[in-house]
Amino acid sequence: MFNLHSLPLPVLGAPMAGGVSTPELAAAVSSAGGLGFLAAGYKSADAVREQILRTRSLTGAGFGVNLFVPDHANTYAANTCAAAEADRKLAAALAFRDRLAAGTGLEPGHPNPDDDDGWPAKLDLVLQEQPAVVSFTFGLPDAAVLAELAGRDICTVITVTDPDEARAAAGAGARVLCVQGPGAGGHRGTLDSAKAPGDVPLDELLRGIAEVSDLPLVAAGGIAAPSDAAAALACGATAVQVGTLLLLSPEAGTSPVHRLALREAALGSRWQETSLTRAFSGRPARGLTNEFMRTYPDAPDAYPYINQITGPLRAAAAAEGNPDGVSLWAGTGYRQVSGDAAGIIVRRLAGVGDREY
Ligand SMILES: Cc1cc2nc3c(=O)[nH]c(=O)nc-3n(C[C@H](O)[C@H](O)[C@H](O)COP(=O)(O)O)c2cc1C
Repeated sequence: MFNLHSLPLPVLGAPMAGGVSTPELAAAVSSAGGLGFLAAGYKSADAVREQILRTRSLTGAGFGVNLFVPDHANTYAANTCAAAEADRKLAAALAFRDRLAAGTGLEPGHPNPDDDDGWPAKLDLVLQEQPAVVSFTFGLPDAAVLAELAGRDICTVITVTDPDEARAAAGAGARVLCVQGPGAGGHRGTLDSAKAPGDVPLDELLRGIAEVSDLPLVAAGGIAAPSDAAAALACGATAVQVGTLLLLSPEAGTSPVHRLALREAALGSRWQETSLTRAFSGRPARGLTNEFMRTYPDAPDAYPYINQITGPLRAAAAAEGNPDGVSLWAGTGYRQVSGDAAGIIVRRLAGVGDREY
């Protein structure tokens, strides 16, 4: 089974759903000595299979696949799958839909309670394809699922954001914990979406989680320089996971409108801050603060419905090249983004030089 301690470089390329993670990006990170990831979220199982095969054609090194845990399969927040809670989410999402329609004059999407992000098909897929690592976010799968994956020699990782979640993930049989701090770009991986995400700084969080679990830890969130990586390793992490820093790499599938905003943000010419929002998806996520986030600061806790509802609005804004209507996910390290190749970024973070390898 994959062993985090045996990675040539202690750097994971974060899974980034929504088109950012590509086979080229995952392969570049793994070939450089880190661990690249594919992001299965929002994709069909067939599309993920194609990406796995393509990644294998690009690198002989191992890589990971990341899955979203739907509410009904989340054993941590059992209340999020209770019928009354599902009804509450749906009602809140429909009210938000009305507000969006009135506010934008556009036709939002419809909430779809049957959409579980292809959970059973994706579990079958990873059991068949056996990537070196399978990581989960948004929830804690049943211990039997983690045991089945381990039985196929697959290393399982759970994203956690506080010591209580870490204890629960370790108890369910996770092999590695991805400790996500408050600076992380994109969605917070809180195991209970109703919970306000914590703001304990990453180094403190790592020390707190190391006290309750002996599992290897991956530190994520705001890792933007070799000194950040070194500090996380000094606080007990075995490796770091980096997302935002890779967004402008040529291998990433980041959209043109997102790239442009990130370049402007890095130059300091626009987008002076990031903030947390539920406005795009119904789950808290960090991005460059734009007009849509400012207009809907009180969007409800109703993932994935809000994501489904805002889908057509985001697509229309992206087609127009309008950065104020799309999610511009970015962590607090966004000023350090560069257009360097992913392998160079990984090597630089690990402190082994930034020349072509
Ligand atoms: C654009 C984007 C998409 C993301 N998508 C996912 C995802 O699909 N699954 C996941 O576990 N984490 C996802 N994340 C969170 C990352 O795994 C990681 O926690 C975060 O990027 C680390 O913080 P950083 O962005 O400051 O490096 C995403 C992050 C970004 C920036």
